[in-house]
Amino acid sequence: MKNGRDDLDRIREALQDARGEVRFGEPMSRHTSMRVGGPADALFVPDDLEDLSRIMAAAGKAGVGVFFLGGSNLIVKDGGIRGVVIKLSRLQKVERQADTLNAEAGISFPRLSQAAYEQGLSGLEFACGIPGTLGGAIAMNAGTRDGEIADVLHSVTIMDRLGNAVEHPRSQLTFEYRKSRLPEGVIVRAIMQLKPDPPERIRRRMDEAITYRRRTQPLQLPNAGCIFKNPPGHSAGRLIDEMGLKGTRSGNAQVSEKHANFIVNRGSATAAEVLHLIQDIRRRVKEGRGVDMELEVTVVGEDA
Ligand code: EPU
Repeated sequence: MKNGRDDLDRIREALQDARGEVRFGEPMSRHTSMRVGGPADALFVPDDLEDLSRIMAAAGKAGVGVFFLGGSNLIVKDGGIRGVVIKLSRLQKVERQADTLNAEAGISFPRLSQAAYEQGLSGLEFACGIPGTLGGAIAMNAGTRDGEIADVLHSVTIMDRLGNAVEHPRSQLTFEYRKSRLPEGVIVRAIMQLKPDPPERIRRRMDEAITYRRRTQPLQLPNAGCIFKNPPGHSAGRLIDEMGLKGTRSGNAQVSEKHANFIVNRGSATAAEVLHLIQDIRRRVKEGRGVDMELEVTVVGEDA
């Protein structure tokens, strides 16, 4: 459903004191790694936490919806997103405190991994090839076979709809495979507990992770990471591959020839094409192997 004039007026009002960047009608295809997605009513890139807090409170007061965009394990539909999409790409500060790293949620996962390496701190090697932000990674408990973010978290700071930030210790948060249950609000900061290790050993583990990824995953083409979670006792990639679906297309969306649990954008694919392909894959695996595959990617927004 399209927004009426009143909704847009409320959005403008909520954003009037923004210091950071504001863009109206911004195509989300410019901000998602899959390169699909229609326009957001407004995109806001806060300058700092104070800027974010003020606009969160103003949006709450005006009754305007906010959506936080990590952008990598995400499919935004072709009709885009109503309300304000907030991107934390200017919140990237990272600081060492003893053997922890205290980082703002907008830092990219590979950059954070690199910062840990430079400090001679081990525990984030697995993150070096995972696209996306720290906040997005915590929200979905991103990881690889070598580890996941929940393993190294000490605390997560979450800002609520009134703009108040509260630090939550790891012991009060629940994480599962590619899933978290967190208090309502947006992740703005996290502290990771790491272990000192010689940098050359850290580097070796990072290089191995990157080499494996390059060998097995279609990193040259726009994609949204793994589409499905691995069902218990199965590999989603292998199941899809065994059904002979590699290379299958729906318009410009294609099941990767390299790794069957990836969909790649071969040109100007639409979200509808990607979602159609996802439905098809799911049905074929269910019919052929009797396995229900759960989505790993998040799907948001409205149909065109
Ligand atoms: N396989 C196939 N055909 C394929 C793809 C894979 O037969 O097209 C087989 C492989 O040969 C292997 C098995 O399936 O025996 C598992 O494949 P892989 O080692 O590539 O790992 P994965 O389980 O598919 C997981 C994570 C990845 C992560 C890699 C490496 C999930 C859903 N995926 O993939 O994470 O990068 O391990 O650690 O848990 C992501 O979450 O977005 C993601 C890409």
